[in-house]
Amino acid sequence: MESSEVKTLDAASAAIVAESAQFVATHGDVIAKRLYETLFERHPETLELFSMDFWPQVRLDEEEDGGIDELSDEEGQKLQHFKCAFDGCTKGFSIQPALMADSLQKYLVHVSDFGFDLIMNKIERICQKHVSRNIQPQHYPLIREGLLAGIEHALETEAGSGLPHEKNDILHAWGSAYDLLASMFIERERILRGDLAGKKNSWTNFESFLVIKVEETDKLWRFHLERVNKRLPPQVMPGQFVCVRVKTQHVGVIHRNFFLDPSPSKSVWIFSLQKTMPLDADSERDRSVMCKKFFAEALKVGNQVGLSMPLGGFLMKK
Ligand code: HEM
Repeated sequence: MESSEVKTLDAASAAIVAESAQFVATHGDVIAKRLYETLFERHPETLELFSMDFWPQVRLDEEEDGGIDELSDEEGQKLQHFKCAFDGCTKGFSIQPALMADSLQKYLVHVSDFGFDLIMNKIERICQKHVSRNIQPQHYPLIREGLLAGIEHALETEAGSGLPHEKNDILHAWGSAYDLLASMFIERERILRGDLAGKKNSWTNFESFLVIKVEETDKLWRFHLERVNKRLPPQVMPGQFVCVRVKTQHVGVIHRNFFLDPSPSKSVWIFSLQKTMPLDADSERDRSVMCKKFFAEALKVGNQVGLSMPLGGFLMKK
């Protein structure tokens, strides 16, 4: 997309976003929490896209708002798995959601004055991560829905907005800013996917790899994998990462990104998972530790897992 094609935010929306930015920033936590609750309650299929240590506490225990009972069997089962696996987890909550929601708010405030090139530079790394997770254009309206639900909730419940605008005007302005930002993400991610598709030995989404060797030390596991169809994978550049998709017995499909280690063989990809030891009673309840345990379990020799194309590093340098 050339700069000249970029849509701009209408002046009224830009002014309202600027004037309400302080309120939104002040209540960022409340908004982020409602954003993810809305996303996972209305679209539970998106839960698996996020790293397990990202999963915030959804309100499954609350009778109000329906909880599990109002979900379809399949959705309910998935969330039930989630709840069972994480009942009693006390740590690992809410760091990543804050990162994504914070940046969302930051970029939305500046989407009309940062300029196209600056925004594109800033979002490049995020777009690479999104592509590795197979985030698609149809996911963007789901985050929009959550964002606006979060802002609406904050406007209704948090004191001190003192804003000289109607709630609907504020929501409309933030919705418009989001649409503009989302269009930039979607376009960049489309181009990234096209670049990947043009690479030698490429695939789309996830490719099946076989775990052929696992080295274990006190500090880490190092996994060696090759393509199930025996074809060579694309060449890896220093600093590149892949998204690994595994199916676990307890919580279904989970994803996590790993940097690729140097490999002596062109046909073998290697990545490492740091242990968090010792696994005392408290760390057993840390979902980041649980996530690692699920990965170590799923990445046994002879098991198959899905790997994304490599992203990051020097991929985009021509
Ligand atoms: C304009 C809207 C969006 C913004 C500003 C945004 C921002 C971010 C940021 C800052 C990160 C962290 C990147 C990193 O760790 O380096 C991230 C990661 C991620 N985003 Fe987004 N995002 C947006 C839309 C979406 C959508 C529509 C989805 C799909 C539901 C999504 C799913 C994810 C996932 C799965 C991750 C990886 C989180 C993890 O590590 O588990 N994002 N995003």
